[in-house]
Amino acid sequence: MRTQVAIIGAGPSGLLLGQLLHRQGIETVILENRSADYVLGRIRAGVIEQGMVGLLEQAGVAERLHKEGLVHDGTELAFAGARHRIDFKKLTGKTVTVYGQTEITRDLMEARTACGAQTIYEAEDVMPLDFDGAKPHVRYRKDGKDIEIECDFIAGCDGFHGVSRQSVPATSIENFERVYPFGWLGILSETPPVSEELIYINHERGFALCSMRSPTRSRYYLQCSLAEHVEDWTDARFWDELKLRLDDQARERLVTGPSIEKSIAPLRSFVAEPMRFGRMFLAGDAAHIVPPTGAKGLNLAASDVHYLSGALVEFYREKSSAGIDHYSARALSRVWKAERFSWWMTTLLHRMPESSGFDRRLQHAELDYLVSSPAAAMAMAENYVGLPY
Ligand code: FAD
Ligand code: PHB
Repeated sequence: MRTQVAIIGAGPSGLLLGQLLHRQGIETVILENRSADYVLGRIRAGVIEQGMVGLLEQAGVAERLHKEGLVHDGTELAFAGARHRIDFKKLTGKTVTVYGQTEITRDLMEARTACGAQTIYEAEDVMPLDFDGAKPHVRYRKDGKDIEIECDFIAGCDGFHGVSRQSVPATSIENFERVYPFGWLGILSETPPVSEELIYINHERGFALCSMRSPTRSRYYLQCSLAEHVEDWTDARFWDELKLRLDDQARERLVTGPSIEKSIAPLRSFVAEPMRFGRMFLAGDAAHIVPPTGAKGLNLAASDVHYLSGALVEFYREKSSAGIDHYSARALSRVWKAERFSWWMTTLLHRMPESSGFDRRLQHAELDYLVSSPAAAMAMAENYVGLPY
């Protein structure tokens, strides 16, 4: 088998890259080690920046997003028992769209099937090979047979635990990491959201987030200790704890109901440098992780794909490797800004296990400053809605 770009991973990064390249006449094969249903079963991101919406339009998969996505002009911050609004639209002229990662993945999968591009699901032992040499190829096993795909380039879009980054010799890569001493316990329920906009809550008992997927489907998160087990959290226990962290008005408005999904995600900041190794590129969570507090992970994956697809199109169309040569530096400059913002939002809103009264007073002072200074609110809004590509 031969293709122009072999893509490892059928998450949002791999699927979006495949679609953007397909539209430019570049052939791809995607190798995914899970089944399509498994990929669609993962509940993750929900907030989409305008830049990513533009990319989905470019990929021809934004129709349903425009129909069903919820446009949010701002968000709320709650602390010390009161809620304060940050008006993105007034401050930056931009908005964000609430539309689930699951739905984006479904739209991309359907578009890929419609255009006849190949995705091989349940591919075992996928391995990128000779990406630093003249004959890059990817080996995998399917139905007991070993298969090799020759290609011009390999795109490692296989997430944080993927094989692509792990295939790079340790001497060629540098990792930067911060692991936070807490996680997020998330619940999805078929209940109307407690508020029209997201509420980010700094509370003595720990951070909480009220989010949504649609006017009838809510997504809530609670900061929890890393020692927690999801089995110990009955729905009733989750709702009780959430109520303790909500302001009075939200507590009264909260509609509870059975969960349709419940999971714990650890929080981590991580960057691998560089993002190019000869003819292999890393994109999305394969190269970097942000804690979800800034809603940046998926959007960052999209901006990598924007730079990478542009570089590959330039290579095939103009026989120029300039875009490819600049890919890593361009992507990393944006990645580090999102890392900084996500780290800042995380430290501002979470209860650190070792925090003292002094630390908590400082958090409140910073939050107070954020909601009372237009300049501070602007800095937050500008990062949240997304810096330009
Ligand atoms: P992934 O989605 O991880 O996809 C990688 C794919 O590669 C997977 O399908 C995997 O099965 C496959 N794969 C792995 N290993 C191999 C292998 N060896 N061979 C073949 N295939 C392989 N981001 C936001 O922007 N906004 C948010 O609001 C937000 N909220 C989040 C909330 C939570 C609880 C979590 C956990 C994340 C959140 N994120 C958010 C982050 C976002 O979900 C990720 O950044 C995004 O999924 C990255 O996409 P990806 O395609 O790079 O990686
Ligand atoms: C979500 O809806 O899943 C979500 C929203 C905002 C975040 C993180 C997750 O910051």
